[in-house]
Amino acid sequence: MSNTIQKNLDHKKYVVSSKLQYFKPHATKIEKTFAEEISSSLNQDFKFINPKFFYDKKGSDLFEKICSLPEYYPTRTEISILRKLQPKLSSYIDENFRLVELGSGTSVKTRLILDVLAKLQDTTEYFPIDISEILTESSEELLKNYDDLHVTGIIDTYEGGLEFLKHFDNKKNLIIFLGSSFGNFSPNDGFKFLKKINSTMKPGDLFLIGLDLVKDKQILESAYDDSQGVTAEFNLNILSRINDELDADFNLQNFLHHAIYNKEKQRIEMYLKSLVNQSVVISKSNLSLNLEKNELIHTEHSHKYKLSQIHELLDNVGFEIKHTWLDDNKHFSVTLVSKCV
Ligand code: TRP
Repeated sequence: MSNTIQKNLDHKKYVVSSKLQYFKPHATKIEKTFAEEISSSLNQDFKFINPKFFYDKKGSDLFEKICSLPEYYPTRTEISILRKLQPKLSSYIDENFRLVELGSGTSVKTRLILDVLAKLQDTTEYFPIDISEILTESSEELLKNYDDLHVTGIIDTYEGGLEFLKHFDNKKNLIIFLGSSFGNFSPNDGFKFLKKINSTMKPGDLFLIGLDLVKDKQILESAYDDSQGVTAEFNLNILSRINDELDADFNLQNFLHHAIYNKEKQRIEMYLKSLVNQSVVISKSNLSLNLEKNELIHTEHSHKYKLSQIHELLDNVGFEIKHTWLDDNKHFSVTLVSKCV
């Protein structure tokens, strides 16, 4: 392991037990990035906040709540698909695979895949990559249920985590990227990100990606603007986080969660709408922000795909498609690929 540390100077290693260790970039680096990114993304005509900042502890908890809302069909639909593919997955993997998960959260989905691996292996290795500290809690939960599991968590951005993984060792990886999180990238960034995943992969590695499909506008819009207001709270929480961590004075009462489906661009667009003319100071970003009434701060896009577009995209990146699984309503998709050699 000392080799590993030397190759990963950006990450500090924390050993919790013989079965749980995690790596994390140095804290000052994270804070500086947050302040800088906010300073540039809010200091322009078209204002936005990078959605990766949603996931502080509170944000991650709220997101878990979103996943079980009646209107939010993606999570339960994807789970039903994973149950369907479980018996099929074992024919693609063997005892040499470890599980790598991008954006792990705390989900049952991980368990469905771990169950398949655990049946084939004496010990199973799991590498969750998540920007949120919640990773350590969910790993401890997992360890309670799986006797022969070893967890190496990486608390970092996806890119940081993938870079870490590239230099780690030669074990075969099954990388999973679920929840249609890929849909939160712009098409351009998404393409580059898939290229990055592809370049991290060795021949024989596998990649499993869950993507949401195009459907009725009504179903989509209520999935992102639920009747209990949990999604609204999640969106607004990003402003509280800026208040707390960057010494800002956003008044949350002056903002509204706004989610619409853009049919032409095939995406849900999420905004925070300023309800009044206002100015906000963000001290650590050295920014004094003026917002007009009805001005929008963009927070998230969630792209929806046609099956043909998914296959074309994966093909263009240089993946070989093994199989796509769907639910009966064709609301969601899960696709398994390998790297073209
Ligand atoms: N990957 C999720 C999605 O696009 C993220 C998400 C769900 C989300 N609901 C949200 C992001 C609300 C911001 C606000 O479906």
